[in-house]
Amino acid sequence: MILTLFDPRPKTSRAELYDRDAELRMMEEFVRKGSPILVMLGIRRIGKTSVLKVFLNEVGLPHIYIDARAFEEYGFSKDTLYRVLSEGLNRLRGRWSSVLEHLRALEGIEVGVSAVRLNWRERRLSVLDIFTKLDEWANSSGRPVVIAVDEAQLLRYLRGGKGRVDFTRILSYCYDNLRGLRFIITGSEVGVLRDFLGFDDPSSPLYGRVVDELTIERFSRENSLDFLEKGFSECGVRPPRGVIEEIVDRVDGIPGWLTYFGYRYCRRPGPDVVKEVLNEAKALALNEVRKLPSKYYIYALKAISSGRRRWKSIKEAMELWVNHPITNAQVSRILNTLLKLALIEKDGHEYRITDPIVAEAAREL
Ligand SMILES: Nc1ncnc2c1ncn2[C@@H]1O[C@H](COP(=O)(O)OP(=O)(O)O)[C@@H](O)[C@H]1O
Ligand SMILES: [Mg+2]
Repeated sequence: MILTLFDPRPKTSRAELYDRDAELRMMEEFVRKGSPILVMLGIRRIGKTSVLKVFLNEVGLPHIYIDARAFEEYGFSKDTLYRVLSEGLNRLRGRWSSVLEHLRALEGIEVGVSAVRLNWRERRLSVLDIFTKLDEWANSSGRPVVIAVDEAQLLRYLRGGKGRVDFTRILSYCYDNLRGLRFIITGSEVGVLRDFLGFDDPSSPLYGRVVDELTIERFSRENSLDFLEKGFSECGVRPPRGVIEEIVDRVDGIPGWLTYFGYRYCRRPGPDVVKEVLNEAKALALNEVRKLPSKYYIYALKAISSGRRRWKSIKEAMELWVNHPITNAQVSRILNTLLKLALIEKDGHEYRITDPIVAEAAREL
């Protein structure tokens, strides 16, 4: 079975990426003549990583891609930071080996045959030393170096304490001094990322900096239908029209879910598949929701998903389920956090869950 559109991994080439031409054009413009930082926002599964990777593959500039989820895997430590950096640098081999050659001058960097070693412990090599060198290369070659950090809100756990790293401080130094670098920062927890970067927060090192912003939006209904039709035809599967419409009705233009349903249906077509896959998708969404810090968040989501859209009725439902009074401040804090995580959104006085699969899962909690 040939998969391109329905390949469940983040896409890396334009042939696999549906639409997003405007977004790619905007990013192109950003690296050529934009501000030093582009912040790419959008809820989970909307396609941020895909757009970013396709862009990096096409841009024709040296780039370092860092997936901040590596810190969840390997620990929020300097060790991990230098590990991901050296992996990122190592990928400059080949076309961008001149960048590595330039970095060689730095004490503490060893460019071996198959790996780049950063001796940061012994040599006191810092991230800024590396970035400064990259900037030098950029200025002498006339090509910016792109540094992309995916799910960057996670880097907030790196700061504070001994031996820690304050990413916003590094970023603000680069912003002011290293004009050859372009940063692309993405985040699913939109409000958390904004707070972390703190462009509007006087106590943040990045306060007042002007940045570019790109929000990745849902597919329209029309594009969702078209995406599924094209994906199915690639797999040589022809589901009844009703199946395509049902999927589109369920997932509200979120490409990650369209891909998930399409992929699963292609693997095993059948009349009950949508229902089965829906249950799996809900279980997946539920696992994510269960990571929230307390049951109050779950009850808030459950309240909203079962039709209590206003503050007061959400509070009443939550109190009923936990079986004791909750303070107004607590309710506000919980809703605020859910807003920052981009799990819910607010339209006038009404709250709504951003992802319909999460909503369905929450309703049954
Ligand atoms: N424009 C698109 N065309 C094709 N597939 C997409 C597109 N956007 C997202 N996807 C698919 O949706 C899923 C989630 O995409 P991803 O880029 O990981 O989203 P995010 O980083 O925003 O969470 C992946 O399976 C990816 O292949
Ligand atoms: Mg992603």
